[in-house]
Amino acid sequence: MASLDQNLHVLSREYAVSLDARDPLRHLRPEFLIPSKAQLKAKSLPEAESSDSSSLNASVYLCGNSLGLQPRLTSIRMQQYFSTWASQGVFGHFKPLNESPLPTWLDADIRASEAIAPIVGAQVSEVAVMETLTANLHLLMSAFYKPDINGRHKIIIENQAFPSDHFAAESQILHHNLDPSTSLVTIKPPSLANSTLTTDQILSVITEHASTTALILLPGIQYYTGQFLDIPAITAFAHSHSIFIIWDLAHAVGNVPLQLHDWNVDAAVWCSYKYLNSGPGAAGGFFVHENNSKVSTSEAGDGKKEFGKRLSGWWGSDKSSRFAMDNRFVPIPGAAGFQLSNPSILDITSLTASLEVFEKAGGMGHLREKSLKITAYLENLLLNMGAYEEKVFEIITPKEKEGRGAQLSLKLKDGLLDVVMKELEEKGVVVDERRPDVIRVAPAPLYNSFGDCWEFVEAFREAVQVAVKAKGGEVKAEGTREFEKTS
Ligand SMILES: Cc1ncc(COP(=O)(O)O)c(C=O)c1O
Repeated sequence: MASLDQNLHVLSREYAVSLDARDPLRHLRPEFLIPSKAQLKAKSLPEAESSDSSSLNASVYLCGNSLGLQPRLTSIRMQQYFSTWASQGVFGHFKPLNESPLPTWLDADIRASEAIAPIVGAQVSEVAVMETLTANLHLLMSAFYKPDINGRHKIIIENQAFPSDHFAAESQILHHNLDPSTSLVTIKPPSLANSTLTTDQILSVITEHASTTALILLPGIQYYTGQFLDIPAITAFAHSHSIFIIWDLAHAVGNVPLQLHDWNVDAAVWCSYKYLNSGPGAAGGFFVHENNSKVSTSEAGDGKKEFGKRLSGWWGSDKSSRFAMDNRFVPIPGAAGFQLSNPSILDITSLTASLEVFEKAGGMGHLREKSLKITAYLENLLLNMGAYEEKVFEIITPKEKEGRGAQLSLKLKDGLLDVVMKELEEKGVVVDERRPDVIRVAPAPLYNSFGDCWEFVEAFREAVQVAVKAKGGEVKAEGTREFEKTS
């Protein structure tokens, strides 16, 4: 990485400060509540929310891949929701209020779909906001996994799939009275040392099982390695073998630009508490391509409109007749027809507040631009650490920028993780661990600064030294390298 400023070394703190000063998205960081180091150590609930992200007291929070930070707007919008409920009671469902930025509760679901559609590159009618990722995955599988033991019955997932995805696929197979030992195919990485999958490996497993596979479930971004899979190529290949493919976008949504409609993705699910910053367990969402959610206008013999089989509830039924209470399910065309219940307005208010901040970024393209820069910057700092040169850790996330999002996964030498994590916590640095030996570091472009990355690497350098020493070793090159002035 060449220095922008002739007088600053690319590894110096001053250089990080100069990058932050030039960051076109720097106005977004103050939109978030960044816990202070003192708050992270406190043992009791503060009286009122407060944050001082501009001061030296702010923690170094690089954990948006696990739980995104709270936008300041969230509590404002929540308070407006509480006021609506308090002052209107049931009228809140349908009575628009002057000056309110919130939709009536009957329109909250469509408002949420309008806000999320551009983030995932979908038509508004192709997305719905509800439930959680695993629940939505089951709903979509109930609609699109129709196994036939004499024909297509297999589900292909990756060997290192997030456990909830593995459980969902396995239990769907059991639910259909099939046996996971013959119906669940897992794609294994070539070796334990190399845990990323190449597109060719994925395609070759698909080819091997093509004639017996009913469904593929893959992650857009792999949670452990941070690898960004080639969604359009794999989707097209699955289609060439007439296989339905669902993408788990937990780590991709709000992180990388997605074009689900144009990529012809069949269906996808996501959660909203990571890069979408909607709060723990907040409503997730899903995508169903318009090709897969058509509702025939012609009526079948029994007077019901024709549509694919799915598990249904009243919120998926046509709005105009929803309250007729006539037990006639008339699915809304598109993803909305897969909705079950009236949505949690609390959840939707939190999500749409956060998506207002995304709008201020001017679209995923701008976020990706910063994300590429800040991730490469973090990588460069790590690659220049003595501990890296001495192989105390390695970066298992792909090096190619198109093969990753805003996450670098650092695999430590055996037995270092506990001490490193304890030291980082002590210094007010928040990252997350995946046992036995991986630390995931995620510079979220909405609120993280280049300074955060610099602070992290300094803290990590010291933490690694302590951990290696605790095992009786020494990182020789640490702290001895002088920053030379380069151009
Ligand atoms: C990749 C991935 N899939 C699925 C899940 C499960 O999400 P949920 O608890 O919202 O169902 C998570 C949660 O972190 C995840 O990271």
